[in-house]
Amino acid sequence: MFQQDILKDHIGIITGGSSGIGMAIARYLVQHGAKITITGRDPEKLAVACAELGENVYTCAGDVRDGNAVERNMDDHMKHYGRVDFLINNAAGNFLCPLDQMSENAFMSVLNIVAKGTFLWSKAVQKHMKAQGSGSIVNIGTTYSWAHAAWVGHSGAAKAAVLNLTRTMAVEWGPYGIRTNFVAPGPVKSTEGFRRLMPTEAGMQSLHKLMPIARPAEPWEIAATVLFLLTPLAAYINGAAIPVDGGAHLTVPGLLPAGIDIKLPRRDD
Ligand code: COA
Repeated sequence: MFQQDILKDHIGIITGGSSGIGMAIARYLVQHGAKITITGRDPEKLAVACAELGENVYTCAGDVRDGNAVERNMDDHMKHYGRVDFLINNAAGNFLCPLDQMSENAFMSVLNIVAKGTFLWSKAVQKHMKAQGSGSIVNIGTTYSWAHAAWVGHSGAAKAAVLNLTRTMAVEWGPYGIRTNFVAPGPVKSTEGFRRLMPTEAGMQSLHKLMPIARPAEPWEIAATVLFLLTPLAAYINGAAIPVDGGAHLTVPGLLPAGIDIKLPRRDD
């Protein structure tokens, strides 16, 4: 639907790009002419993804929580390609756990991957984008960033932080020609997050009844929104937060995991 070479000469980085939504974005951007680096913790998964995605993909193994690893990955990317036009902050971690059973380490693991990882990578690309006078950062969020995130409180807190960071970066870095936006999926088919948060078909079916468009997103539908934000068509879009959920955030605010036997605590329990 977009011109096949719309991202020709665009070079960028996708964190967590070897699986799930990150890989779907990687595939879509490469199909439209981009050259990319994908990062991830597992070198073997990166090699498999790279073999599938083709020659315009470079890989850097590293943990987004580790500032030294981010700097090393950034240097490797620059040595390989010489510039960075876009960054997709996609790496995430999540699991179902009520707050009163969540350990400090569990809470911080997700905060560090999502919020700290986004901060570290954005800062790493910013100096190059500032020198170039252009760049586009897309943070992958979730629609529960705006509401509650029952049973994924760590992820909700982290994604809400990323939403706020998005707006701050848009204001601080917009004058340098760097646009920062936030894409917020609802449920996305065939992803690790979907398997973890919506584990049963029956639960998903009951959620569908509440959704204006009664199905999860196809991964490419998230990727298409990201692609649009990277093109000159979005040159005036900065600091935006775009839900890509068929309108479900209007009818199902926040997250209530579907198909899991979780009861809300009552005062007289
Ligand atoms: N329920 C409760 N606590 C859990 C948990 C679960 N399902 N999974 C992990 N934890 C806790 C661990 O017990 C540990 O806490 P503790 O030290 O107090 O015992 C803490 O979380 C860190 O776990 P660990 O496995 O050591 O962390 P990690 O850094 O290797 O992994 C996670 C990070 C936990 C986010 C892991 O799930 C992950 O790597 N996920 C990546 C993939 C993913 O989540 N994709 C979905 C994206 S939407």
